[in-house]
Parts: sequence; C-alpha cells; structure tokens
Amino acid sequence: MNKKEFFALLECLVSGEKMEKHHWQSLLSLYVSDDESKELASMARSVCDKQFGRGVYVRGLVEISSYCKNNCYYCGLRCANKEASRYRLTKEQILTCCRQGAELGFNTFVLQGGEDPLQTNQFITDVVAAIHHEFPEKAITLSVGERSRDAYAAFRHAGAERYLLRHETASPSHYARLHPSAMSDAHRKQCLFTLKELGYQVGSGMMIGSPQQTLRHIAEDFVFLDELQPQMIGIGPFIPATGTPFATSSAGSARLTLFVLSLLRLRFPKALIPATTALATLLPDGMERGILAGANVVMPNLSPIDVRDKYSIYNNKKSSGSESAQSLQQLATRLGEIGYHIDYGRGDYPA
Ligand code: 5AD
Ligand code: SF4
Repeated sequence: MNKKEFFALLECLVSGEKMEKHHWQSLLSLYVSDDESKELASMARSVCDKQFGRGVYVRGLVEISSYCKNNCYYCGLRCANKEASRYRLTKEQILTCCRQGAELGFNTFVLQGGEDPLQTNQFITDVVAAIHHEFPEKAITLSVGERSRDAYAAFRHAGAERYLLRHETASPSHYARLHPSAMSDAHRKQCLFTLKELGYQVGSGMMIGSPQQTLRHIAEDFVFLDELQPQMIGIGPFIPATGTPFATSSAGSARLTLFVLSLLRLRFPKALIPATTALATLLPDGMERGILAGANVVMPNLSPIDVRDKYSIYNNKKSSGSESAQSLQQLATRLGEIGYHIDYGRGDYPA
C-alpha cells in the first residue's frame, strides 16, 4: 500500500465510515513499518488529547477471586491448572480494599475475578450493594464473566454501572482454538449485547498475538467492535502462562498491540482505553507507550498484597501496586514525565 492509500483508509477510519474486513487487514499490515506506526500513534494521541485532555483516569482494581470454573487454554487461572494458587476475597475484604482506595482518592472500583462458583450472583449483588451504599457517588465496574441476564440485571440494580467482558477474539473458529467446546463466542457476544441493553457502560476487547491469531482475526475484531460500539476497550498482548496448553507459545507483539490501540482510539475517539498490565509486563515503559499511542486509563491494583501473586493469569504479571499514596505519587511522576497527569474523576463515557 502506498502513502496515498494509507491516508485514504485513515480517512475512512476517522470519519466512522463503514469498513470491510479487508480494509482493516490492509491497515493492520502496516504495523511493521516504523513511519506508519509513529504517524498513527501521534494521530491517535492528538485525538485523545482533544477529547480528554492530558488527564489519565485511574481505576482501582480489586481482584476478588482466582478460582474459575472455565478452562480457557491461555489463562493461568483455568480450572485444570492444579499449580495455580487460589484465593477468594470475602465481602469484608473487598470492602476494605475499596475503603483504602477511597482514602487514596479513587472514584472508580473494578471488581474482577474468575467465574468462581462460590462467588454466586447473590454474593456479587450483595457486595455491589454494600459498596454502593457506602460510596454512592463512585462508579462500580464488574468483571466477573458470563452470567445470566437476571444476574446482570440484579448487579445493575444494586449499583453496578459498568461491565468488562472481553470478547477475546471475534472469529468463531479462532475462538474455538482458544477455548474448550463448553464455551462459545456466540454466548459471549450475546452477554455483551445483553449488558448493553441493561444500560451498562460496556467494555470489550481482545488479546493480541494469541496462538494462531492472524491479522485477519484482528480485522474481524474491529468489525465486531464496530457493531458492538463498546464504551471501554481493553487490549493486551498474549503472554504465555505455565500450567496451560500454551505455556511454551510465544508472546504477542507489543508493537502490534500499540498499533491496534492507536487504530482503536481513532475509530472510537470517546472510548475509555487502558494501558494494560499485560503491555507493561512486556515493556518496561509499556504504560507510557500505551498512553502515547492513545490510551487514557490505568488500573492500579488495590488487591491485598498477600494475594497479588496468586492472580496469575500469565507469567511474570506485573503488579502496578498503588496500594499506597507513595506508589500513586510514583505513577503521577511517570505520567508527568511524558506530559500527563492523573485524573481522579469517575471517567464516565463522554456524553
Ligand atoms: N495473556 C494475556 N492476557 C490474558 N488474559 C487471560 N490470559 C491471558 C494471557 N495468557 C486476559 C484475557 C482476559 C483478561 C482477564 O486477561 O483477555 O479477558
Ligand atoms: Fe477463567 Fe477468565 Fe481465565 Fe478464562 S480467562 S480461565 S474465564 S479467568
């Protein structure tokens, strides 16, 4: 593709015009080029600056359970991984994490966990209600997997306003290579549309460089996201995890991840897009690179220190610990060095 064609496609991308899978694929194939990558990152960053300014939202992440009934082939928390250390937080422990987060100034909490059968729908509902009762102004985000419509409705009613559920890969055949047959892409997508119908701000996303993924699959992810129109989009490179069938597969490309992130920012200018832990695990300056490619959220970890290592989705997962005022100060300093600052606001999807 020559420069002219590249800019013509960028035009379509930015204007929101319909794009076919092969258009996305052509754009994606340019990630190998230094020039195009830089160009794209700087366009994405300026779109983000225009929409959000130089603030980066912080979300306090509480990892509520490392038990999971599912057996995704890529994830260290899969039920068949006998070497995984497991824990589940009690309602009181979760509330304690939120209180500490509130002390530190956080206005959003993200409760994330595996699909733990003992953290029932009723349990999650109770926890949300308790947090909402104590902190009625703060945004509660859930990320507890595929649940029934009734459960999602009960969580929403109790005070949860946002839900993260990555679609992982939009391609049915690729999905089937990453998951056992008990799981289906169709059900996952259905959950996302249900969440939207119930009035949640919805987050989806995919891993970059998961085994056997091609640019064609990522092109399908874009087509799906165009349809879903999520308010939040999380992407990170695949990283191998011990105790999984993909333990010896190679990690995804950080470069491609950043390129995809910039494309997402240009296509979804108002979206809340985090610089993810997976990116920071692969690159020492992954957070900064993510921000400079168009991300506008970071998710510091508020989980109790003694369980952090147990939430081991993949190897060497970095803990961006911000349990203390001191580490938040470090985050502020790092952002300051690239011209950004922490925004402690709720960071809702712009009207
Ligand atoms: N590498 C990178 N990301 C992973 N996830 C799960 N396993 C891995 C892995 N090995 C991501 C999935 C999931 C989120 C919680 O973590 O996208 O949705
Ligand atoms: Fe469970 Fe999520 Fe890991 Fe799959 S990716 S095994 S659903 S925690």
